[in-house]
Amino acid sequence: MNNEEIRKIVADVLPEQRYKHTLGVAETAIELGARFAPTLCEASLERASLVHDYKKPFGRVELTELLQQYEPNEDFSSYGGVLLHGPVAAYLLKEDFGIEDEEIFHAVYYHTTGRAKMSLFEKIIFLADFIEPGRHFPGVHEVRKLAEKDLDLAVLESLRSTIHHLSAKHVLIHPLTLSAYNDQVRTAK
Ligand SMILES: [Fe+2]
Ligand SMILES: [Fe+2]
Repeated sequence: MNNEEIRKIVADVLPEQRYKHTLGVAETAIELGARFAPTLCEASLERASLVHDYKKPFGRVELTELLQQYEPNEDFSSYGGVLLHGPVAAYLLKEDFGIEDEEIFHAVYYHTTGRAKMSLFEKIIFLADFIEPGRHFPGVHEVRKLAEKDLDLAVLESLRSTIHHLSAKHVLIHPLTLSAYNDQVRTAK
């Protein structure tokens, strides 16, 4: 399936705002790729962006059931339903879009949590999801400024801001996010 065909399917599945966000992520991922990783395939970045949130509209029970078919011992569901749509989408990429690319699998799987040792490709999708033009929340401006110059500092700041936001609300933080943060502290200069 080519990116145009994928885009049409995603446009049908997603509510208008989520679809707009998806296009914003694709545009931003391509920009970040050109800036920080010109050797990465632009079409792959666009493809990962287009599919990253396509399971977002589905309910927690359905997503948990789907994920447990692939990972009976998954722990994402115990950290709030919002994390589930990433890993579920990753597992369904082959069936729903014919996508078997490992890089795209990982970028989609970990876009809700991050992880330590993210590839350049994963960092770009993770960051694009955070700063695409439709995002408006406290701190996004600082991350956008960093993303003009330094990918690792921008990823670090997005993780720091997420952890700050979640801890202020006294909600659980997935260990993958904490280890992503620790890893970025070591990586970013
Ligand atoms: Fe998402
Ligand atoms: Fe997203």
